[in-house]
Amino acid sequence: MTVHDLRQKFLDFFKEKGHSIIPSASLLPENDPSVLFTTAGMQPLVPYLKGQAHPMGKRLADVQKCLRTDDIDEVGDNRHLTFFEMLGNWSLGDYFKEEAIGWSFEFLTDRRWLDIDPKKLYVTIFEGDNDAPRDEESMGIWQAQFETQGIAANIGEAGKDEPASGTEGPRIFLYGKEKNWWPGAKTKGLCGPDTEIFYDTGRPHDRSYGEVCHPNCDCGRYVEIWNNVFMQFNRAEEGGSLEILPNKNVDTGMGLERTAAVISGKTTVFDLEVFQTIFRGLEQLSGKVYGSDEDIDRSMRIIADHVRASVFAIADGAVPSNVQAGYVVRRLIRRAIREGHTLGINGLFLQTVANVVIGEFGVFYSALETKRQEVLDALKEEETKFRETLEKGMRELEKMMKGGDMTGEKAFILYSTYGFPVELTEELVKEHGQHVDRLRFQEEFKRHQELSRTASAGMFKGGLADDSAETVRLHTATHLLHQALRNVLGDHVGQRGSNITKDRLRFDFSHPQKMTPEEIQKVEDQVNDVIRRDLPVRFEIMDMDEAKKVGALGFFEDRYARMGGKIKVYFVGDEERGYFSKEICGGPHVRRTAELGLFKIQKEEASSAGVRRIKAVVMDSGA
Ligand code: ALA
Repeated sequence: MTVHDLRQKFLDFFKEKGHSIIPSASLLPENDPSVLFTTAGMQPLVPYLKGQAHPMGKRLADVQKCLRTDDIDEVGDNRHLTFFEMLGNWSLGDYFKEEAIGWSFEFLTDRRWLDIDPKKLYVTIFEGDNDAPRDEESMGIWQAQFETQGIAANIGEAGKDEPASGTEGPRIFLYGKEKNWWPGAKTKGLCGPDTEIFYDTGRPHDRSYGEVCHPNCDCGRYVEIWNNVFMQFNRAEEGGSLEILPNKNVDTGMGLERTAAVISGKTTVFDLEVFQTIFRGLEQLSGKVYGSDEDIDRSMRIIADHVRASVFAIADGAVPSNVQAGYVVRRLIRRAIREGHTLGINGLFLQTVANVVIGEFGVFYSALETKRQEVLDALKEEETKFRETLEKGMRELEKMMKGGDMTGEKAFILYSTYGFPVELTEELVKEHGQHVDRLRFQEEFKRHQELSRTASAGMFKGGLADDSAETVRLHTATHLLHQALRNVLGDHVGQRGSNITKDRLRFDFSHPQKMTPEEIQKVEDQVNDVIRRDLPVRFEIMDMDEAKKVGALGFFEDRYARMGGKIKVYFVGDEERGYFSKEICGGPHVRRTAELGLFKIQKEEASSAGVRRIKAVVMDSGA
């Protein structure tokens, strides 16, 4: 089963069931400034799920282009993709659980459609809690469906009961909100219980993940292929209570690549024909063979994924740039070029790969054909520019190597002036029997940060010399506090001072009057909310202009800029869930917000005229 077959079958099936087939919306969300890219099929349909009439009716089906880049560093393993297609069928206040589940089962198992042995299917449903009841209805509907195939689907307890292997035994498993609620347990907005369908790959269970396997076991034996969300609630506030929507909606999502791969017995999505075609192209370009070596495979996967994502993104209007979606595309492209370099491809190659991608996908996504030239031009321009920088850097590197060993200082110059990540330098000098002194590189890196810090008139003052876990947590808490204060009090709030000891943070900021208890509570709640959502924290090195463009908080003084070079911007959040804070800073910070535990403001007082002072602590949440 190719992705093209599966896509077509899905749309044909739902057309037969009275659905209008709607085209994929753009990868760039039109009315949602909180995300850079469309990350799920339901996103463009939110207004209609909320009750607005859709011009194409109440039953819709589509395949939606999606892009998720929070996993960008994991692409290259054998599961992650940045760009993917999501199949979905929708009921906007029309049919509900009975039909949705029935059709899912029919599409998957009927001989006319996917013809999957129903004994290979397992389902999960919402077990219920204080907030919303157990989904008994779905349980009954699933049992009746399996019954039609002579299968007695019993209820099993995850991790305790062995899933059924024949026509009888545990086949339906209950989980809480962390698994069977969409989008998130407490997330604001449209939501509801869901039922997920899993496919048994038949691979033996890996006991290092637990004694007894179950659908959501991380060993990967069971793979989720389809999610049916019964979207009948709205949560007005993050963590607030549920309101019943006027419509009982159905929102389903089937990851096209993943499902096509598992049901055709492939081990990874990269075994699918579409990727294999791209690999054949890369083999010609590089003279290397996919499947012959782990590093080669990894590089080829990254190139295939990133070029495919870039082609679709550029066609939707995200040309490479230094800001927002364009910046993501730039990162994807540069990462692909570096991997091309690793594979030993000489010269420009992105256009060749992009042509293969367009050849594969242009048949269904005809806009790729009409925009072919635009896409190719944008890729070429970006590749040419980046190549020039790389080449200059290479000449510099050669000179450096002739002048003696590759020191950490030299590696740092390559990094700060030519954008060579130290890993790349390492690889290059290895070919000449040299190596980079990583420790010296790190020291140099730190020293430059110190310089920048001193130069920036005390903006980085604080307990930063002390890297103990406590101060690092408080330091990240300071960023969250800064942003929360701005959200609650307004943009006039700016940092006037910061001091961190291992026991508490102290933060001085511009604000004309005493904060009310409600304001303090709101700020505290916002910070704790970010902690609970466990957002990732990461930094990017950029120059002042870029930092300004991404909207990072910090000081943009000439003096700082003249002292030159690059700065670090810390981001809290990700593309999918949005960024809570962006701030220029030397670091270090925690890696994920949940490490902070619980945030508590202990005191709010005057510091000087027009400046307030907050003292706050973080503590283990006891959870
Ligand atoms: N909206 C649901 C998902 O993305 C179907 O999984």
